[in-house]
Amino acid sequence: MKTLTSDAVPAVTAAVAIDNLSFNYGRLRVIDGLSLEVGAGTSFGLLGPNGSGKTTLIRLMVGLLKPAGGTIHCLGRPPSPARARNMGYMPQLPALYQELSVEQNIEFFARIYGMKDKRQRSQRVEEVIRLVDLWSRRKTSVLKLSGGMKQRVSLGCAIVHRPPLLFLDEPTVGLDPELRAHFWRHFENLTAAGTTLIISSHTMDDAAHCRQLVFMRQGKIIAKGSPAELQAATGDGCASLEDAFLYFIRKGKVPTGDD
Ligand SMILES: Nc1ncnc2c1ncn2[C@@H]1O[C@H](COP(=O)(O)OP(=O)(O)O)[C@@H](O)[C@H]1O
Ligand SMILES: [Mg+2]
Repeated sequence: MKTLTSDAVPAVTAAVAIDNLSFNYGRLRVIDGLSLEVGAGTSFGLLGPNGSGKTTLIRLMVGLLKPAGGTIHCLGRPPSPARARNMGYMPQLPALYQELSVEQNIEFFARIYGMKDKRQRSQRVEEVIRLVDLWSRRKTSVLKLSGGMKQRVSLGCAIVHRPPLLFLDEPTVGLDPELRAHFWRHFENLTAAGTTLIISSHTMDDAAHCRQLVFMRQGKIIAKGSPAELQAATGDGCASLEDAFLYFIRKGKVPTGDD
C-alpha cells in the first residue's frame, strides 16, 4: 500500500512515484527507504551534497540499476529498457562518441530512440543542434569541443526524441553563469511544453529554479517542498535555500505540512 504525504499528487498525475526504495552498493546502503512523487510537467530538483545518492537514484529511475527493495513507477510503469523511448537521460559525465561530430552524435541517439523516418529525423536533429546553439560547430568532432559545449551536445542527445520525462544529472556543473542561464531557459521551455524534468544538483542556484525540491542526505530525503516553502519552514524570513538546507540537516526531519 502506497503511503502518500500531504503534498503528494494523486498517482494518476504522477510522472514518477517511488515507494520505500532502497539500494546498496555491496554493504553500503546508498538509498535508504526513500519515497517521493513527482507531478507531471514540473521541474523537480534533487538537491544534496556529493555522495548523497542523487546519481544512484536517477540510475534507478531510468532502469539502469535494480532496487534492493521498494517500487518505482515512471509514467505509471516500472522503468525498463523497452520503455526507454519515453525517457531522456543526460548522465553526469557526458557519454558521447568523441570521434564523431556533434551532428553524428545527436543523429545516433535519434536512431537508437527509434526515430525511423529519415526526413523527420534529420529535421529534428537540425532543430536540436540549433536549440543547443551549436550550429556552427555541427561538423566538429566532440573531442575538439569545450566542456560546456560537450554538455550542450549531451543535452541535445537526451532531448532529441522529445521524451515526456527527462532526467538531467548535474547538467549545469562547470557552466559559466551565462551558459547556466541559457540552460535554464531551455529547461523552462521544456516544462512549459509539458515535459517533466528531474534535475540533480548540489548548487542552490539551480534549486531556486525548480518548482519542487527534495533535499537529500545519505540516501534519504530530509525535506521537500517548493523553494519558498523550504525557506519559510526555517522560520527565518531572510533564510536562503542554503540556510534552509543546513536547517533541515540540523533538524534531521521532513516537513510534512502538518507539523
Ligand atoms: N559504482 C559504485 N560502486 C560502489 N559505490 C558507489 C558506486 N557509485 C556510487 N557509489 C557510492 O554511493 C554513494 C552515492 O553516490 P552517488 O549516487 O554517486 O551520489 P551523488 O550523485 O549524490 O554524488 C557514495 O557513497 C558513492 O561513493
Ligand atoms: Mg552524482
